[in-house]
Amino acid sequence: MQESALLVGSTNGSYPIVMSCLGDFQLAVVEAELGADALALAQARDRAIVVADLPLPDMAASALVSRVKRHSPATSIILLAGGPQGPDLGEIVSVGADEYVSRPADRGRLMIATARALHRRRIVLQAGRNRLLEVLNAGDRVVGEIVEALCRCLEAKDFLSDGHARTVGTLAGRVAVEHGLAEDEARLVYVAGVLHDLGKVAVDQLILERPRGLTAAEWREVRIHPVRGAEILGSIEPLREVARYVRHHHERQDGSGYPDGLRGSEIPLASRIIAVADACDAMVRPRPYRSADGLGYAAREFARHAGTQWDAEVVDSLFACVPELQLAKAS
Ligand SMILES: [Fe+2]
Repeated sequence: MQESALLVGSTNGSYPIVMSCLGDFQLAVVEAELGADALALAQARDRAIVVADLPLPDMAASALVSRVKRHSPATSIILLAGGPQGPDLGEIVSVGADEYVSRPADRGRLMIATARALHRRRIVLQAGRNRLLEVLNAGDRVVGEIVEALCRCLEAKDFLSDGHARTVGTLAGRVAVEHGLAEDEARLVYVAGVLHDLGKVAVDQLILERPRGLTAAEWREVRIHPVRGAEILGSIEPLREVARYVRHHHERQDGSGYPDGLRGSEIPLASRIIAVADACDAMVRPRPYRSADGLGYAAREFARHAGTQWDAEVVDSLFACVPELQLAKAS
């Protein structure tokens, strides 16, 4: 079934570019002038993307975004706003939209934003299919509930990460399967991916929210999170192996990573898989302190650092799982 996009607001002079871009992605377009009408349309049928031209005549952007997301978490939202001075990154973070394109909309930027928005949607949909408890029900239900509780604990602390933990878990699990791991092992990779940053519950909230300009002491506190996460998980007998994977998710192939400076095959394969999934989501997802670097940047970074930072064969498996990266690499 053809997916649809919902276009809200006047889109000013950007209308032809927006329509042509959405058409290029084979999206059927439904239009609404008012935010209230858009909400009704978004709730009537699942929409792949909502493009909102700000300001809306009857509703704050934050109200539109939060209500669409509450009803349809997999719907990605692109805001068109601002002017020649460029986007206000503070606004995109505060309202929780996925992408922000400044007016007048440039076709190239809008195409990239739409590609990223659709990529994020696919990851969220996949994550929904792989819901934690369903995956873990094949194992131990109580352990599954503990993992879910720990994940919620992390999300409550690191709320700006916006689904990063679950996305990394899902992507790591897919890469593990692509890489030929058995189902049981891939399940552990998935759990370790979800909980890879659990140790951040032990990091000061103010440091987590200020990722730049940290002092040496603050960096030491951040860099201890894999150890803290492993300590927490190591206290749960069925998660001992997961604890080991979490401990080593920041190691690097050339030994320059932390906490133990392991090299190559000394690093558990699961940790090498989590490292590429973590980096992939970090590079394509907008963050509070910078816009997303994009698929092209991610593809170049993986190509440049495969073999030194990341396991080159695991990077190949990642590219097989994320065709958009392969396309970005080729372009
Ligand atoms: Fe981490």
